[in-house]
Amino acid sequence: MALTPELNKQTKLKEVAEIPLQAPTVDNWSQILTFKAKPDDLLICTYPRSGTTWIQEIVDMIEQNGDIKKCRQAIIQHRPPYIEWARPPQPSGVDKANEMPAPRILRTHLPTQLLPPSFWTSNCKFLYVARNAKDCMVSYYHFYRMSQVLPDPGTWDEYFETFINGKVSWGSWFDHVKGWWEIRDRYEILFLFYEDMKRDPKQEIQKVIQFMGKNLDEEVVDKIVQETSFEKMKNNPMTNRSTVPKSVLDQSISPFMRKGIVGDWKNHFTVAQNERFEEIYQQKMGRTSLTFCMEL
Ligand code: A3P
Repeated sequence: MALTPELNKQTKLKEVAEIPLQAPTVDNWSQILTFKAKPDDLLICTYPRSGTTWIQEIVDMIEQNGDIKKCRQAIIQHRPPYIEWARPPQPSGVDKANEMPAPRILRTHLPTQLLPPSFWTSNCKFLYVARNAKDCMVSYYHFYRMSQVLPDPGTWDEYFETFINGKVSWGSWFDHVKGWWEIRDRYEILFLFYEDMKRDPKQEIQKVIQFMGKNLDEEVVDKIVQETSFEKMKNNPMTNRSTVPKSVLDQSISPFMRKGIVGDWKNHFTVAQNERFEEIYQQKMGRTSLTFCMEL
């Protein structure tokens, strides 16, 4: 694999099948496409800023039967790899996954149409977390601002257009969520919502425990609920990305664990933007049976 020059805010996204992705991922596409999934893999799938870190910590704690020490052995970004992650000369997400013992927990932000085809024939499990489009869009804006390896998002108004046109990294929120929702009955997919996890974390965590085929005592479940709360994870150096250099994530611009709430979109959308967004949402999502909670 060729060395990729240092990424910075001037580095443009590249595309695979019209989906914008980070350049090193596109440069490594042949390795990603030929990735071999296994039947006992669990793939955590999310659109960016939908609660990936949160569900990852939950899954990890379940896998470790609530043992905090085991979960804190490594920072979260060194735990389940993103299969599409690439930063040569470091080992890619595929390299890391290939070295993992089974059963593997893996992550991806890829939309269904870009997922390595072996996943569809592997009989593995998929855990999808969806977050309402408006909060996701706001959270992604602040992430774009603080990330030093994603292009400058411009003003909120400029970014608004970029997001609704699906020109952000990993593509359109609408197509991503719709794509995974439409196949939820064809594969072993647990489809969760960020808003449900906020409203009743214990109930949603119990769904994950069952999906993973685990059986945990009530007190362990309660511990997982507590340890994966926003406040705990914001203050936990293993989950809050505080170990990532400022040249990659500048948390003085916006923290990685920012607000962790439902409804922050109301502090960002103008009335006109909200009306326009609703119209576009209807066009793109109107035919699906998906419904999202927009405030708690
Ligand atoms: P905000 O920017 O709205 O605060 P991802 O991990 O997919 O990048 O998602 C990040 C978003 O999930 C951020 O949203 C972050 O604060 C939120 N988040 C992370 N851990 C959380 C938790 N334990 N509870 C609630 N929200 C959480």
